Amino acid sequence: MRATAIAQPNIALIKYWGKRDLERNLPAVGSISITLRDLFTEMRVELDERLSADKLIVNGSSDETMLPRLSSCLDLVIGGARPRAHIESRCNFPIAAGLASSASAFAAATVAAACAIGQSLSNEALANVAGRSSGSAARSLLGGFVELENRETDIVVRTLCDSGRWPLTVVVAITETAPKAVGSTEAMEISRKTSPFYSNWVERQDQDLQTARDAILKRDFEQLAAIAEHNCLKMHSVMWASRPPMVYWNSATMRCLQTVRKLQGDGHGVFFTIDAGPQVKAVCVPECAADVRSALVATEGVADVMVTGLGDGARLVKAP
Ligand code: DP6
Repeated sequence: MRATAIAQPNIALIKYWGKRDLERNLPAVGSISITLRDLFTEMRVELDERLSADKLIVNGSSDETMLPRLSSCLDLVIGGARPRAHIESRCNFPIAAGLASSASAFAAATVAAACAIGQSLSNEALANVAGRSSGSAARSLLGGFVELENRETDIVVRTLCDSGRWPLTVVVAITETAPKAVGSTEAMEISRKTSPFYSNWVERQDQDLQTARDAILKRDFEQLAAIAEHNCLKMHSVMWASRPPMVYWNSATMRCLQTVRKLQGDGHGVFFTIDAGPQVKAVCVPECAADVRSALVATEGVADVMVTGLGDGARLVKAP
């Protein structure tokens, strides 16, 4: 009745922003991401008939913040009448700060919960359970370049290209480690209801997906860079034009973008992307990683820099 799974966060290159079904947490748009290698969340789930309530320990300390969502995730996998669980999570990067901590957490929790009760779920079933807990979590079930297809009644995830076939490097510039003020779930709804750009964002997503898919299949870095930056800035434009506005950037975020522009001007193969937080992820060809890292370390306001390659999907680390 226990299992441990590990999952890596993923960074969307073509973003998910907005829901078409709040109840089932179905996204309004498809998305494409890369799964990272060196950032991780390890999740241990132990079901215990003697417990009267679920318990969550995060990095060694009791933490209730994520508990309701994790409890619902276990209910979805195991059923609401399940024994209560002792959940222990370990994570090596800042939580809820725009680094996709919920993606790796729910992907790992889904895989661990299914194994804890000896259930072998299809990839499709795992994706729909993880995706109900957090849309981006379904993408962390797989490695490399991952597409989440927004089908009529559910979602489907598939690998477009393995991490080994196009081994890009991601340099994450951390400009703030505190949790963000407004979570993505709430911010997406504000955008959907109030942003004058929202419907246009949804309508144009298929074109961006097609361009990115094509770039990944050809391994065309320039094409991927152009569409990923465009899609990122478009998502942030939707957020900025919402009421109240959702501005996740700080001054160091902007300075990091200028650093990336300067690196591009000097001929480096690098592009930026930013999620619902102030961190900047610079995706680059491995030969440029050292220069990208030094340039971001030297950028004013950058608190820390993490460098990672692309990694694999969620997996068990310990059988019951
Ligand atoms: C900006 O997956 O965190 O990172 O489904 O409400 O949990 P919920 O949202 P979440 O949103 C991720 C938003 C994003 C873009 C992306 O990862 O595609």
